[in-house]
Amino acid sequence: MSRPTDFIPFHRPSIGRLEEEAVLSVLRSGWLTTGEITLRFEREFAELAGVEHALAVSSATAGLHLCLEAAGVRENSKVATSPYTFAATAEVIRYMGADPLFVDVEEDSCNLSPPLLEQALAREPSVSAVVPVHVGGLPCRMDEILQIAGARGTPVIEDAAHCLPRRGQKGAPGTLGAMGVYSFYATKPITTGEGGMVVTRHGELARRMSMMRLHGIDRDVWNRYASSEPSWYYEVQEPGFKYNLTDLASSLGRVQLRKSEGFYLARRRIAGRYLEGLADLDYLRLPPDQADHSWHLFQIRLDLSRLELDRDRFIDALMERGIGVSVHFIPLHLMPYYRRTYGLRERDFPHSMRCYRETISLPIYPGLGEQQVERVIAAVRELGARFYKKR
Ligand SMILES: Cc1ncc(COP(=O)(O)O)c(C=O)c1O
Repeated sequence: MSRPTDFIPFHRPSIGRLEEEAVLSVLRSGWLTTGEITLRFEREFAELAGVEHALAVSSATAGLHLCLEAAGVRENSKVATSPYTFAATAEVIRYMGADPLFVDVEEDSCNLSPPLLEQALAREPSVSAVVPVHVGGLPCRMDEILQIAGARGTPVIEDAAHCLPRRGQKGAPGTLGAMGVYSFYATKPITTGEGGMVVTRHGELARRMSMMRLHGIDRDVWNRYASSEPSWYYEVQEPGFKYNLTDLASSLGRVQLRKSEGFYLARRRIAGRYLEGLADLDYLRLPPDQADHSWHLFQIRLDLSRLELDRDRFIDALMERGIGVSVHFIPLHLMPYYRRTYGLRERDFPHSMRCYRETISLPIYPGLGEQQVERVIAAVRELGARFYKKR
């Protein structure tokens, strides 16, 4: 299928002159890897998120791994999460030698279901952590999740890969559990190309993750050049990982962080226009218009009983009309590894299946122009009208 010349990509990062200058200045500084710029990025991020500790890492996947390690997740224990997520959330559980305990999502939000979590924890005494995922930046029902996990003393690690560190009424999603992780992957609300940030209020957890992030060395390598001890000296306390973020990436991140509120407002405007322009269509379910939604994704749900085409054909037709869309997510219980290893079946997670079969993510990013947004709306409406099921 050849793409029209005015194809609207699903995503384009918003990178400008300030980012270019920031990266150039690091390139010219003589210090490329983790250093002063990363420390500043961490401080600024912590301040914006309203949290005591922020640790820059090479990816959210690395960050999730550090969190599980710091939480003391044991081999052969279980970590509860939902299957409606990206591969990273569950693979880090396997890194620890633990097993994912997949718990189905709520049918409407596609986020981890608190009642199903409660049932799963009652059945499974060996759950050593709970990892809710705020899909698309729509926060999970954290009050309930924290209460259910807290009653058993089980730490909650938030996969906030899709969230911005914006403070909600009760704090930013990502800062509510014991630890939380944001992603700066190329398509995320702010980007460093690859990268992530771990946040926590707990000094002990922060110290552990800071050490494990860099080979298990008990002080930051760049401090070697500032401290009174000889600069060549360090001690390895644990066999740690290589998960630090470079100053090159952090320089990008600092500029993006300063722009993050503007980015959010731009996405919020697009979401508002989609919500308005698609509101009257009875074959669509739209996301809730919540103030604490980061609007990383704008996910529409098709009512397949009212349409003569399925989700995949709807996507093909949008692509033919020059509109790049995506699907978040293919549930992990459908993936060969998890099916094979844990004997999972489609019918074990009916809500995740339904979310998967009905969902399409529309383009939403600051560089998307008003006319492009109108084109997306018009294409969805045109397809719905054309393939509306006659009763
Ligand atoms: C829900 C979720 N968690 C974790 C990740 C991993 O993020 P990263 O690519 O920064 O490792 C992603 C990436 O897309 C994601 O969507």
